[in-house]
Amino acid sequence: MSNIVLITGASSGMGRASANYLSTKGFIVYAATRDVENFKDIENKNIIPIELDLRNQKSIKKAVEFIKQRHNKIDVLVNNAGYGLVSTVEDVEENEMYEQFNINVFGILRLCKEVIPIMREQKSGIIINISSFLGKIGLPLLTLYNSSKYAVEGITDSLRYELKDFNIRVHSVMPGFFDTKFARENLVTNKKTFDKDSLYSHLVSNLAPIIVEQINNGNSADEVANMILEIIQNPKFPARATVGDKAKKFIPMKKELSDEDFERRVMEYYNI
Ligand SMILES: NC(=O)c1ccc[n+]([C@@H]2O[C@H](COP(=O)([O-])OP(=O)(O)OC[C@H]3O[C@@H](n4cnc5c(N)ncnc54)[C@H](OP(=O)(O)O)[C@@H]3O)[C@@H](O)[C@H]2O)c1
Repeated sequence: MSNIVLITGASSGMGRASANYLSTKGFIVYAATRDVENFKDIENKNIIPIELDLRNQKSIKKAVEFIKQRHNKIDVLVNNAGYGLVSTVEDVEENEMYEQFNINVFGILRLCKEVIPIMREQKSGIIINISSFLGKIGLPLLTLYNSSKYAVEGITDSLRYELKDFNIRVHSVMPGFFDTKFARENLVTNKKTFDKDSLYSHLVSNLAPIIVEQINNGNSADEVANMILEIIQNPKFPARATVGDKAKKFIPMKKELSDEDFERRVMEYYNI
């Protein structure tokens, strides 16, 4: 019997690459997206597009129930969907703050609520959270995105204890910068922060172009897809792993240095 995988944000980038790769390895992949039209070009019978809005528990329930009816199991859940808000804390609007956590954090919790009972009953399961190296490292203008990804790391740590007795593994993948649609379509900017008269214009003009450039010239999403297969196949895979150049550079450095020394290195590197 084939293994059933559910991936969120599967229409592009790491989600799409993972769906494609796992489908070639014998998995049946439910590719969750807000708009199934994103998949009209796909002719792979092992990839099944499914509409799922992470903001809406009813939509999540419907998608999960659909998979349960067909297979009576979900072996792997990849919580991948996410976007980045670029704003200072001073400028951020209430709805922008809420939406960042609504998708990147509450969306994961809502989906876990529906999938965990299925995994618990089948006495096995793997939950893979796509976090970021920015889930362990802060940067200015990214406080909301950073804190959402720090929260994802917390979800992984806590769930690992909570679910271990049901034979459900939970892992975080912390990518560095990757060349996906992320910088082109899924970085949302706050109007005031990006105004030419902003008091933070020095940060905006120094840091924002570097980040965008580093994402657009980042690693290939295929590396994340490879890691996801590795996690599925290796029951002894560590709780979390880094993938991509920037994550491999900064995460070990953060572990080795004092907070202040690490900060100095980041400030030099990003000219902030
Ligand atoms: N690219 C990077 O440098 C990088 C680095 C570290 C971590 N990450 C993380 O990796 C994950 C995948 O990103 P990616 O780089 O592959 O980017 P991507 O190509 O932009 O894909 C992001 C996916 O997330 C979903 N998404 C975006 N905004 C959403 C919203 N408001 N509501 C619901 N779904 C939304 C979209 O799904 P649909 O349109 O199909 O609904 C989209 O397919 C994200 O969690 C991101 O934070 C990215």
